[in-house]
Amino acid sequence: MKTEISTDRAAAVELLERSEIVALPTETVYGLAADALNGEAVAKIFEAKKRPYFDPLIVHLPDRDWVERVARMDDLSGKVTEAFWPGPFTIVLPKREIVPDIVTAGLDTVAVRISAHPVFSEIIHKFGKPLAAPSANRFGRVSPTTAQHVCDELDGRIPLIVDAGPTAHGIESTIVAVRGGKIQILRRGPVTAEQLSKFGTIEIAGPIERVSAPGQLPTHYAPRTPLRLIEVSESFSPKKNQRVGLLAWNSARSAKDFAVFRCLSERQDYREAAANLFCYLRELDQSDLDLIVAERVPLHGLGAAIMDRLQRAAHDPLDAQDRPE
Ligand code: TXA
Ligand code: MG
Repeated sequence: MKTEISTDRAAAVELLERSEIVALPTETVYGLAADALNGEAVAKIFEAKKRPYFDPLIVHLPDRDWVERVARMDDLSGKVTEAFWPGPFTIVLPKREIVPDIVTAGLDTVAVRISAHPVFSEIIHKFGKPLAAPSANRFGRVSPTTAQHVCDELDGRIPLIVDAGPTAHGIESTIVAVRGGKIQILRRGPVTAEQLSKFGTIEIAGPIERVSAPGQLPTHYAPRTPLRLIEVSESFSPKKNQRVGLLAWNSARSAKDFAVFRCLSERQDYREAAANLFCYLRELDQSDLDLIVAERVPLHGLGAAIMDRLQRAAHDPLDAQDRPE
């Protein structure tokens, strides 16, 4: 199959109507979309991404009127989504029959989101129905923030990538679930714990807490090159003949020690850093390095979501298995 990169929104709608899959921009990362209410169309997403069927998808809605058709919204979830929709925000709700089991991996809940991206919004409104859309990367890999990244991941496996330039936030949406009157953060993202705390008590779900979301697996977002986290103040010099790339938070280190040097944000701006994160990880991963060294980012606001991704990128897959005591 030939993969087109274009700005043709009508072609995207037409493909979706024919139960095909299409990569679309959102304000967080690019998603791989299919008709959420059509199990066969959704199966193509799992195939193209090589995603295991136990990992449920986010359902994007054209507008709020759709919420009660696919899920049951409680009062607190209603208030929180009122504040952050449309936007980089996903909420897990009890699902209704209409949502096929393949979308939710058999769970009795469904993750729903309304995106504010003008191109995504235009396409989903023309299509007129919910779209299931995970990030448009192969399973377990870094999410794509440009059309070219999607192409690097899925070339030849999907018919169309709608290009709307780099995404604004650069990291995936915040995912929450309201449980026992508390707001549980299942995945950190652009909407921060501080922002959510205005609405109630916050709980941060720990890494593999009974994997209801494999996006929480410690090895998710993995580059192929080993990645090590260091403190900004920690000294580090590459060994002789070792090709090391630096992903810096603070640009104070000497660039000449490193084969490749990327600074997340010269002005230490968290938004800019988040927007650059996956792009720089990809560039470093493609630079034929022995090691990527990444400086720890302060945990304020969005910094926590950035560190969450970096920690997963740094995780040694061999450590991901539960080891006997
Ligand atoms: O920003 C985003 O959220 C992007 C754009 C395209 O919308 N999407 C995205 O989807 O990151 P994905 O599939 O890569 O990550 C969604 C995460 C997965 O870790 C999945 O396990 C979790 O959401 N998830 C989906 N349904 C769930 C549910 N019912 N309960 C708990 N977690 C769920
Ligand atoms: Mg993903």
